[in-house]
Amino acid sequence: MELVDNQVAVITGGASGIGRTTAKTFADHGASVVVADIDEDGSDTVAEITENGGESTFVQTNVSDPDDVQQMIETAVEEYGGLDILYNNAAIEGPVSQLHEYDNNSFEQVLDVNLKGVWYGIKYAIDAMLADNGGSIISASSIGGEVAVPQYSGYGAAKAAVSHLTKYAAIEYADEGIRANAVAPGIVRTEMIERTIEEHPEMEEQFQETEPMPGLADPQEIANAVLFLGSDLSSRVTGVTLPVEGGYLAQ
Ligand SMILES: NC(=O)c1ccc[n+]([C@@H]2O[C@H](COP(=O)([O-])OP(=O)(O)OC[C@H]3O[C@@H](n4cnc5c(N)ncnc54)[C@H](O)[C@@H]3O)[C@@H](O)[C@H]2O)c1
Repeated sequence: MELVDNQVAVITGGASGIGRTTAKTFADHGASVVVADIDEDGSDTVAEITENGGESTFVQTNVSDPDDVQQMIETAVEEYGGLDILYNNAAIEGPVSQLHEYDNNSFEQVLDVNLKGVWYGIKYAIDAMLADNGGSIISASSIGGEVAVPQYSGYGAAKAAVSHLTKYAAIEYADEGIRANAVAPGIVRTEMIERTIEEHPEMEEQFQETEPMPGLADPQEIANAVLFLGSDLSSRVTGVTLPVEGGYLAQ
């Protein structure tokens, strides 16, 4: 079943990990996908989609630059005639550090990408969706935005703000046909987690045991939740942060 047939989706951070898998999943389900990433490897995601018969365009985007984000949304409108779905997925992990030792510049970078980037995305997507028939905006939060995860204060604060911002977008545009939700993954086997394990090998065992369900999540398990929130299957769902974390937050 094609859940987002003929829809236009923009996915940030589509060069890697969850974003890459989500871009391919949306294309498999019939969407035209704009892959946006600061890393030009996003064009590899596009190549994979088009080789499989899908429709996709890459636009190099720094989500912390409002002009870039505006250009990203315009690309969807110009190439495919509108915007139905935005997944604000791009983020950086920042340092793993106790709060009092957390580097100030790193904190600003984390806020610039993980919070301001999402805010710009929501803002310019709403502009395009108001001009069209509404749409669905999904943003990447994290378990670290729901509860405090030691040594992730900057990242967690930004993610908590993403979930809260999502509620504002949901209520302000509920009568305009625009829904806004977030997903809160636990520990997902992606390049982001691999980088952390490389720098802090002692964390691998901790990651393996974080979620009550065994092991780490597969990026596809997050992409499936984003697909649900992007499609009409979730037509009455707005303003929520959907945990996809093997039961972590139920404890
Ligand atoms: N992997 C996990 O365990 C996990 C857990 C909870 C939440 N998340 C969230 O899921 C999302 C995806 O994470 P991932 O694990 O796939 O990460 P990843 O590092 O594999 O991919 C992130 C992508 O974002 C891009 N990016 C970074 N800064 C950018 C910028 N300024 N502008 C545009 N693109 C930029 C990177 O180039 C990369 O392609 C993130 O929001 C992350 O915080 C991940």
